[in-house]
Amino acid sequence: TLPVSNVQALASSAGKLTADKIKRYIRPDIDAYEVLSEHSGEVPVIDLGKLLKPESAETEAAKLRFACEDWGFFQLVNHGIPEGVIANIKSDIQKFFQLPLDVKNAYAQRVGDLQGYGQAFILSDEQKLDWADMFGLFSQPPQARDMSYWPSQPPTFRNSIEEYSSELTKLARSVVTFIAKTLDVDLELVADKHVGQFLRMNYYPPCTSTPEKVIGFSPHSDGSFLTILLEINSVQGLQIRRGGAWIPVKPRADALLVNVGDFLEIMTNGKYKSIEHRVTINAHKERLSISAFQLPKYDGIVSPILGRTEEVLYKTMRVEEYAKLYMSNKRDGKRTLDHAKLSPI
Ligand code: SIN
Ligand code: FE2
Repeated sequence: TLPVSNVQALASSAGKLTADKIKRYIRPDIDAYEVLSEHSGEVPVIDLGKLLKPESAETEAAKLRFACEDWGFFQLVNHGIPEGVIANIKSDIQKFFQLPLDVKNAYAQRVGDLQGYGQAFILSDEQKLDWADMFGLFSQPPQARDMSYWPSQPPTFRNSIEEYSSELTKLARSVVTFIAKTLDVDLELVADKHVGQFLRMNYYPPCTSTPEKVIGFSPHSDGSFLTILLEINSVQGLQIRRGGAWIPVKPRADALLVNVGDFLEIMTNGKYKSIEHRVTINAHKERLSISAFQLPKYDGIVSPILGRTEEVLYKTMRVEEYAKLYMSNKRDGKRTLDHAKLSPI
């Protein structure tokens, strides 16, 4: 496939965004489901501080279980990541995307890679494109890093990524411990499911001409164990599927948004849900975010661990096999996860 154009440059190109220029971004079928903004405030909020305190742990764990079962998403407050670490990564990501295109292109995604600056998952020259530029990096374990992709501008960037990544890894470990408790399974059964981490910085330019006809990130569920999202500039855009509608998620400056990924859904035999989500585009404001995908061991296996007393709904798969399947599917709802389901007899 041909490299796709830079959306930030396209969005800011002088003159009007002609229909022809943005043809590959226009989605005729975008309004398939209703958007229920009035439910924005209902996304569950989980307080890590309360999970850690014996007197409130049980009540908060019940909320966590409900959030994973019923929403697949929760806002995590009192997450304990130092304010400075968050401020630095936010500021450096904003600075990076403001750099001239040729500077950013020094880190351009190489063909067939997931890392670098650009757009992944482009499988054909006809495929519709997302209204976004992205920057992906394998960040954990440290030996998985390809430093040729780690930007040296802004000068503090590498350090901010390193600090954010290691703080998030500690946090993920703690969240996973509490999730294992809500499932009543041994921590060892889930502990090796978040050994890796892939970071993706997302830049969604405004679309002045037809914001309602383009999409920042096509509907998909995450090919991760858990995903932790930091909203960088508080511009709303993320929407999650719930009961046949889209619910916009209100950005919260004091929280990280955590969601259940496909691997956790498989492991819990469907008890915890990896929910479809998408990103919409604003007419005037850019939006920035960073997603951290907590990943299982690449050479491990994933299988339902809860299916002892109930019908097993998912296949046992090699993680690598699932990851390849995920990447060869264009981002399209839960199609990849359907392949992991055992067909009804
Ligand atoms: C994603 O699904 O990883 C993108 C989320 C976002 O930018 O809010
Ligand atoms: Fe996602």
